Amino acid sequence: MPEKHTVSMSASASGSAAPSSALPATPMIKPTDLRGILRYVPRFQGQSFVLALDGAIVADENFGNLAVDIAVLRSLGIKVVLVHGIGHQLAELSAQRKIPITNVDGTGLTDAATLDLALRASARVSHLILEGLTQNNLKCAITNAVRSLPVGILKGVDLQHTGRVDRIDKDFLKHLIDADIVPIIQPIGYGPEGHSYRINSDLLAAELGEALGASKVIYLGPIAGLEIDGVVKREMPVERLRAVLKETPSLVSSASLSKAQNAVRALETGVSRVHLVDGRIFDGLINEIFSNEGVGTLIYANDYQQIRQARRADVRMIYNLTRAAVRREELLHRTQATIEKFIEQFYVFEIDENIIACVTLAFYADKPQLAEVGSLYVLPFYQNRGIGRKLIEYACLRAKEKGATRLLALSTQSYSFFTSVMNFEETGPEILPEARLKTYAESGRNPKVLIKDL
Ligand SMILES: CC(C)(COP(=O)(O)OP(=O)(O)OC[C@H]1O[C@@H](n2cnc3c(N)ncnc32)[C@H](O)[C@@H]1OP(=O)(O)O)[C@@H](O)C(=O)NCCC(=O)NCCS
Repeated sequence: MPEKHTVSMSASASGSAAPSSALPATPMIKPTDLRGILRYVPRFQGQSFVLALDGAIVADENFGNLAVDIAVLRSLGIKVVLVHGIGHQLAELSAQRKIPITNVDGTGLTDAATLDLALRASARVSHLILEGLTQNNLKCAITNAVRSLPVGILKGVDLQHTGRVDRIDKDFLKHLIDADIVPIIQPIGYGPEGHSYRINSDLLAAELGEALGASKVIYLGPIAGLEIDGVVKREMPVERLRAVLKETPSLVSSASLSKAQNAVRALETGVSRVHLVDGRIFDGLINEIFSNEGVGTLIYANDYQQIRQARRADVRMIYNLTRAAVRREELLHRTQATIEKFIEQFYVFEIDENIIACVTLAFYADKPQLAEVGSLYVLPFYQNRGIGRKLIEYACLRAKEKGATRLLALSTQSYSFFTSVMNFEETGPEILPEARLKTYAESGRNPKVLIKDL
C-alpha cells in the first residue's frame, strides 16, 4: 500500500502553535509516536514534496498550524516547495474594489484588470506565507523560476494574460532548496519580455512536481478530498481516476475537479503520489503523510504493474520458487496440488515473464474484516530491492478494497521484516478465527502472529 502510516503526530506538540479554535483538540504527541515517526525519516529524507496551497487555505485560521507542519517536514529532511493559489483573495479584491474579473482560477480569460488584481492578490498571499514561515524560523524566497508563454487563442477566444508553463528553472529551485531555503511559487509566470501571466496553481503544482522529480504533490484546499458521486474517496489508483474523468467527469465534484485533472497529469509525468487534503483541518497535512487515518485522498501511480494474480499455469513455477524457502523452514510446505487449489489467493511478481516473488492473500469467511498474507517469498537475487515491500503494500490495498480493516501475517523467521519494515505489530494467536487457530496449532511451527491496521 502507498505510505499511509500509523503515526499520530500533533504539530502543537512542537510547542509553537495552538489548535484552531473551531476544531477539536488533538491529543499531544506521545513518546511512542516519536518512535513511529522516526521510522519514516530515512524513507522521506531527501525527497521533494510540492505543497500546493489554495488562497482560501492561506486565509484560513489554521494556516498558522500548517506553517508549523511545514517546518516539521523540513526538520525531517524533506525538501519542500510551496506553490499557492489566489482565487479566494482575487474574488475578495474584485468585490471590495467593484472591479469585475474575467476569470477567478487562472484557466479562463485574464484581461488587464483581472491580471492587475491577480498580481495584488498574489503579493498578499505570498506575504502571508512569508510571515507564517518566518514565525517557524524557515528561510524562504519568492522566485521568478516559472517561465511562461501566453495560452493564446482557444476556441476563438484570446485568453490574453492567461499563461501556460513554458519552462521551470529547476536548477534555480534546487539551488535554493540546497541552501535550506523554501521556494514560494506564485501562480504567476514570467514571459521572455518580463511580462506577467496568470497560471492556474493546480496546474503549476503538477508541472513543478514533474520538473523537480517530486515524490509527492499535496493539494491543500478547502475540500475534504476527492469527491466522486458525493463520496470522498480515501485512496484511488490513477488509472481509475483517469477512467472516471474520461467517462463520467460530471461525477467529480466541481471543487475537486481541477485538482483531480492535475493529479492525473502529475502522476503521468513521474510523481508517485498525489494527496488532496483539507488544509483547514488541524494536523491534516501531518496526519495525511504519517497516519493511516484517511484525512484526505491519496491518488497513486501504478507501482504494481509487475504484480498480477496467479493463474493455474503458474502452479509449478510458484512451487519451484518457494521450495528452497520451505526447506529452510522459512515458508510453510505446500504441495503443487495445494497451491493449485488455492491459486486464486496467490499474487506473483514478474520480471520479463519470470515469476521472481509471490505472496498469498486469504480472507476468513467468519471474520470478513480480517485478511491474512502468507507465502511471501522473493528470490534471493532480487531481495533488498523493494519487491517484498511492494507485494505487502499491494496485498494491503487488495485487502482494503475487499473490505478488510486488519491484515495478519504469520511468520517464523522474517517477522522483523513485517514489524520493522511493514509496521505490523505482534499479537497473540487468539486473534485468529477458530478454524485458522486449529491449523495454526496443528502446524507445530509456532509462528509469531503479526497484525496491521489497514
Ligand atoms: C523477507 C523478504 C520477503 C523481504 O523481501 P525483500 O524484497 O528482500 O525486501 P524489501 O527489499 O522490500 O525490503 C528491504 C528491507 O527489508 C529488510 N529485511 C529484509 N529481510 C528481512 C528480514 N528477514 N527481517 C527483517 N528485515 C528484513 C531489509 O533490511 C531492508 O530494510 P531497509 O529498507 O531498512 O534497508 C525476503 O527477504 C524473503 O523472501 N525472505 C525469505 C522468505 C521469508 O522469510 N518469507 C517470509 C515468510 S512469512
